[in-house]
Amino acid sequence: MGGWAIAVHGGAGVDPNLPEERQEEAKRLLTRCLEMGVAALRSKSLSAVDVVELVVRELESDPLFNSGRGSALTAKGTVEMEASIMDGPKRRCGAVSGVSTVKNPISLARLVMDKSPHSYLAFGGAEEFARQQGVEVVDNDYFITEDNLQMLKLAKEANKIVDPNNRPRDMRCKCRGRNQRHYFSIANERTPHQCLCTRNRRLRGGGQRGQVRGRDIHWGLMNKMSGRIGDSPLIGAGTYACNLCGVSCTGEGEAIIRGTLARDVAAVMEYKGLKLKKQWIGW
Ligand code: GLY
Repeated sequence: MGGWAIAVHGGAGVDPNLPEERQEEAKRLLTRCLEMGVAALRSKSLSAVDVVELVVRELESDPLFNSGRGSALTAKGTVEMEASIMDGPKRRCGAVSGVSTVKNPISLARLVMDKSPHSYLAFGGAEEFARQQGVEVVDNDYFITEDNLQMLKLAKEANKIVDPNNRPRDMRCKCRGRNQRHYFSIANERTPHQCLCTRNRRLRGGGQRGQVRGRDIHWGLMNKMSGRIGDSPLIGAGTYACNLCGVSCTGEGEAIIRGTLARDVAAVMEYKGLKLKKQWIGW
């Protein structure tokens, strides 16, 4: 089968409260990653799997996206990352969960696929394998950003699991992101909305109270339980690839797992004989 296609995402949706500069920054980064992938595919110097690894490493290195540096924090304030990769035509795959020192979890997932007899390693065993393979490791602190610590603090105060980027409409702070620091609000039954703008003002109108519903847009939930595994490393749930397509889901991991979404999408294509369309879906 000739030809290629590439899709890059940094999670579902755009938080309307995210200051415009940061939205633009995120789009620039995604565009850069996409262009990097396109250039590599055009040059034919790398395989499709190499390109996936290359591009995801780039996203992992940027704290703007919730993978690698800037990952969502567990309730303990630590980072437990996960990643997966799949070579569709060969039906090979590799995944990791619960890694806390591996700078680029996607590369470890690749090594699980290429250099281990298994498809999926987690926690201590994955870390051990990382050291055997000589991948770059860093302190857990490397992944933790000031912004995420603040989000965790608010999530804990509300005793909720939170996706900072995809709040239900009634949860959005009325500051409307005029302040650079503002991109997060939270509330529960007792606490009205708060935001991280420097004034940290309390919003008027108790009617704005509501439940924070955890929903992830990119690879992790803030204040998740330690040990929680999302859809991202689960082949068939968050990730799947075959000779027709590659699927990478984003959204609430628990729902995606229950729906085995990625495999379903591939199966629909397979059973209906669908093909990828040549089109650009962007912003
Ligand atoms: N969709 C990513 C997660 O729930 O962890």
